[in-house]
Amino acid sequence: MAVDLSLSWLGLEMESPLYNASGVMCRLREELDAVAASAAGALITKSCTLEAREGNPEPRYFSTPMGSINSMGLPNQGYPYYFQYAAEYDYSTGKPLFVSLSGMSLQDNLTMLQALDDLQLPCLPEVNLSCPNVPGKPQLGYDFAATAAALCAISRVYARPFGVKLPPYFDVAHFTQMAEVLNACENLRFVTCINSIGNGLVVDMDSESAVIKPKGGLGGLGGAYVLPTALANVREFSRLLDHKYVIGCGGIDSGAEAFMHILCGATAVQIGTCLHEEGVGAFSRIQSELSDIMEAKGYHALTDFRGKLKTL
Ligand SMILES: Cc1cc2nc3c(=O)[nH]c(=O)nc-3n(C[C@H](O)[C@H](O)[C@H](O)COP(=O)(O)O)c2cc1C
Repeated sequence: MAVDLSLSWLGLEMESPLYNASGVMCRLREELDAVAASAAGALITKSCTLEAREGNPEPRYFSTPMGSINSMGLPNQGYPYYFQYAAEYDYSTGKPLFVSLSGMSLQDNLTMLQALDDLQLPCLPEVNLSCPNVPGKPQLGYDFAATAAALCAISRVYARPFGVKLPPYFDVAHFTQMAEVLNACENLRFVTCINSIGNGLVVDMDSESAVIKPKGGLGGLGGAYVLPTALANVREFSRLLDHKYVIGCGGIDSGAEAFMHILCGATAVQIGTCLHEEGVGAFSRIQSELSDIMEAKGYHALTDFRGKLKTL
């Protein structure tokens, strides 16, 4: 029997579980169109802010054989650009559209969600919790009380299903606390794990220098560097969340890592660094590798192995 990669969740039908991670191939309409025309099963826009932003000075992205480091500074066209795209998008193609929001404050996120609600479009928002909170305090996703307050405020202005993009957590107590906060929000329907591992530093031996310019070289890590952390976050939130979907992101470079994410509980998976390096051909390659793995293991559908990680 042929392998079937399709999935159905939140009333959405997808032919494939793979799509782009926010920030990669999604800043401009042409890039989004290229993802839509590829083998990807869905697409998501660049995290947007109220106003357009140039982002940080270059070089602000650097790749190594083990992944990537970036400090982009949220370069984006401003939310009206992406909402316009969402208004004109052809939803009959069968590829769901997600819109990533990353306001510079809670009020900015509420303003954007209110505007999105007014449009009544069939796209779904993914609110990026790696956004500024109060100066001197950690990003929103690392402040549990502020996240709880933000989710309450979001639910008041946006009564439809939405998701959040979570930073990685590293402590069992943090998984538990965050899951409690997320479980308390009824129309939060999905969480995407993980955003980049924050504030890494890649050093070039020859020049004895940092490789990116912003923040003295500090930047978010993606790619193979982050795979085990991403899998742990997918696994733990899949176990701890009630009736919410987990979308896996981090370190997917081939069918094997996509399989691992789904085995750990991911409903669908997003691809960042690998897509940045390889372009949209990555979707068909990874999809056929995933099919081959499933066929070799005798699995016909994603539900045959989703969330079925064995422990010793
Ligand atoms: C160039 C670049 C830009 C990114 N911009 C965003 C962004 O705007 N919003 C967001 O939620 N994540 C952003 N990310 C993080 C990715 O979506 C993803 O969570 C992370 O890179 C881990 O996935 P990967 O290992 O496949 O790269 C960005 C990553 C990269 C490499």
